[in-house]
Amino acid sequence: MRAVVVADGQVSVEDRRDPVPGPGELLVRVRAAGLNGADMMQLRGFYPPPPGFPTDIPGLELAGEVVGLGEGANRFGLGARVMSLVGGAAQAELAVVDERVAMPVPTSLGWVAAGGFPEVFITAHDALVSQCDLRSGERLLVTGAAGGVGTAAVQIGVALGGRVVASVRDPALRPAVAELGAEPIDPADSEDHGPYDVVLELVGGDAVPANVRALSGGGRMAVIGVGAGARVELDLLALMSRRARVMGSMLRNRSTAEKALASRRVAEQLLPLVGAGGLRVLVAAAIDLESAAAAYARFQAGGKLGKVVLTIGGTTATGS
Ligand SMILES: NC(=O)c1ccc[n+]([C@@H]2O[C@H](COP(=O)([O-])OP(=O)(O)OC[C@H]3O[C@@H](n4cnc5c(N)ncnc54)[C@H](OP(=O)(O)O)[C@@H]3O)[C@@H](O)[C@H]2O)c1
Repeated sequence: MRAVVVADGQVSVEDRRDPVPGPGELLVRVRAAGLNGADMMQLRGFYPPPPGFPTDIPGLELAGEVVGLGEGANRFGLGARVMSLVGGAAQAELAVVDERVAMPVPTSLGWVAAGGFPEVFITAHDALVSQCDLRSGERLLVTGAAGGVGTAAVQIGVALGGRVVASVRDPALRPAVAELGAEPIDPADSEDHGPYDVVLELVGGDAVPANVRALSGGGRMAVIGVGAGARVELDLLALMSRRARVMGSMLRNRSTAEKALASRRVAEQLLPLVGAGGLRVLVAAAIDLESAAAAYARFQAGGKLGKVVLTIGGTTATGS
């Protein structure tokens, strides 16, 4: 099979041996695979995949057709359209997926959108619903809201009845984020637009203390991304006086059982909304596997609305 390979800071596409599904696993002919910040870290030599996954084939999410079944796998039949989180090695023509983590692809979702769905929608849903217990009518701040997780979180927040404020540093992207139902703001103004019942912190760095101060009484903050810096000064009195909570979370290092649970919650609560056209995967660029280096460069350039997705096995950029 052809696979993206990251080594010594370089992205290439090489021939690799086909993977073989183990017990309870599906062999999937991958049709699209989303890029994520984790892939960029893996390229730089950080954030290795969990044990059992190749260290040099990146990719945390994919969509494709089931073409083989490991021993005992019976949740999906041959030919089923699935999308899933994986521990790694999604960016290849073939991949193995734990059947417990896989989700069916709604008929309304094309391959490109499906390949960019699992990581960002599961991350955003887990943070907003499972951790922060966002309720209808509550005010939500999503930082870094034009990116993959951000555009998913804004839509989930709106679907749950939240009043969503979206901080977006590129003014050119704010109208598109507003169309998702959020009030777009400059990140520098986030404290002025508070208080917030929930803050989804996707950026980290210097803006975090102001976002903590902007929490309401009983407010919750989930820290999911720290691209702008992982060390900040925290005013504990600000937390105490607000009875606020700051939580952190990572998806990749969770057990398969925990990923399966997070995925099942999304399948139950979000896939019906996807089917009804209420949730969309925003795709900034869909790029063929053989041009993976260009796809990585597009992700790293920033200034995008939503996801960068690799198209694989004849999938067109429009997703068919
Ligand atoms: N904990 C987990 O399990 C988990 C899961 C998924 C993702 N993540 C992390 O969550 C973060 C968001 O993921 P993603 O997929 O949405 O990434 P993404 O698509 O690259 O989006 C990141 C967004 O943050 C903005 N941003 C970056 N630095 C900023 C700064 N200093 N000030 C204001 N805005 C800034 C970007 O704006 P520009 O385009 O202008 O740069 C972009 O809109 C990443 O750090 C990722 O690694 C964590």
